[in-house]
Amino acid sequence: MSHRVLTGITTTGTLHLGNYVGAIRPAVAASRAPGVESFFFMADFHALIKCDEPDRIARSSRAIAATWVAAGLDTDRVTLYRQSDIPEIPELTWLLTCVTAKGQMNRAHAYKAAVDAAVAAGEDPDANVSMGLFSYPVLMAADILMFNAHQVPVGKDQVQHIEMARDVAQRFNHLFGQGREFFVLPEAVTDTEMELLPGLDGRKMSKSYDNVVPLFEGGAKALKEAIARVVTDSKLPGEPKDPEGQALVTLYDAFATPEQRAAFRTALRDGLGWGDAKQQLVQLIEAHVGPMRARYDALMANPAELEAILQAGAAKARAIAAPFLKTLREAVGLRPYTSTAATTQAKADKAALPVFKQYREADGKFYFKLLSADGALLLQSHAFEQGRDAGQWVARLKREGLVADAPVAREGTEADIAAALAAFQAE
Ligand code: TRP
Repeated sequence: MSHRVLTGITTTGTLHLGNYVGAIRPAVAASRAPGVESFFFMADFHALIKCDEPDRIARSSRAIAATWVAAGLDTDRVTLYRQSDIPEIPELTWLLTCVTAKGQMNRAHAYKAAVDAAVAAGEDPDANVSMGLFSYPVLMAADILMFNAHQVPVGKDQVQHIEMARDVAQRFNHLFGQGREFFVLPEAVTDTEMELLPGLDGRKMSKSYDNVVPLFEGGAKALKEAIARVVTDSKLPGEPKDPEGQALVTLYDAFATPEQRAAFRTALRDGLGWGDAKQQLVQLIEAHVGPMRARYDALMANPAELEAILQAGAAKARAIAAPFLKTLREAVGLRPYTSTAATTQAKADKAALPVFKQYREADGKFYFKLLSADGALLLQSHAFEQGRDAGQWVARLKREGLVADAPVAREGTEADIAAALAAFQAE
């Protein structure tokens, strides 16, 4: 299998220059590399989590799709699709939800931030938490695992989600793989450039700071107006200026050749006025963005063309997702009644791992035992009054191995017991 790269954009707004420089442009460039299979999608299921304005979501999805295409994405080579066109994704989300620890989701940054904000406002901790928000990382894991992406380019705020996807993948592989790795463990790719493009005020360009330069929206006029608002120092034309650390210069760099960068700096040191510098910046950006904007406007004016591109993308994506999901359904036990081979196979394979069995005897007391891969008794517990206590000991033995005070009789050799317990710690 070639190397797979996948990323999604939540469809709640339009894109700005920072999105283009940090995400779209490098993704389009990377998608042209040989041996790379790219998957880009509009994360519109994710949009529902934070937005209840249907028109906004629909418009945003269309604008982002048009942006991808206008930015030069070769849709014959890459797979561009709407998340919501792939019903296999929510289905996989459920399979993954069932193997995801709630405790792990409690630690998700986005959820914790919502809780912290509510608590700070004196509200109930979960006042602003929908199940969608809580389960956000599982849906994202399904996005990634559905296509077995190796690399996921994202902003730093998303890295935790990729780590969660890895954990879920590992757990699913372990529980249902019978030695097979269904899911590739994905890796986050964070480009430092991605975080760097400054906005009008010099802070990172971000909707939440209200400091963005629109990419296409509003045309050349809006671009010019935005650049006019970039904060500079108060040096007058003719005064020498220090180009370093100026947002204007960093924005210029993002579109300039090394020669242009050097020339721009020299001109500023020689006294180029900020007004003129801004005009040069507008021209430079417009030279890059103008032709793309024309394509963007054409696509926005012709929804049928864009829709056809997305339908073709969905077909390509589903050609991968549907057969894969079929395999996963089989693996977890969602099978046609005529499919008996899988069960027998599974039983034979299951026996290849040691197991803890917990049970209750006729005396009303609770017990557990450890059986080796071939069914030999290795450990036999004492009786417990509470099932919970037996369970806690099983968990502890799995975690820590055979601790000295474990309430068990050793029925197998030290080596066999140690090997069986090690298999759990590898989990
Ligand atoms: N959560 C991502 C964001 O807000 C968007 C997203 C959804 C995504 N699913 C994904 C990104 C899968 C990468 C892979 O930026």
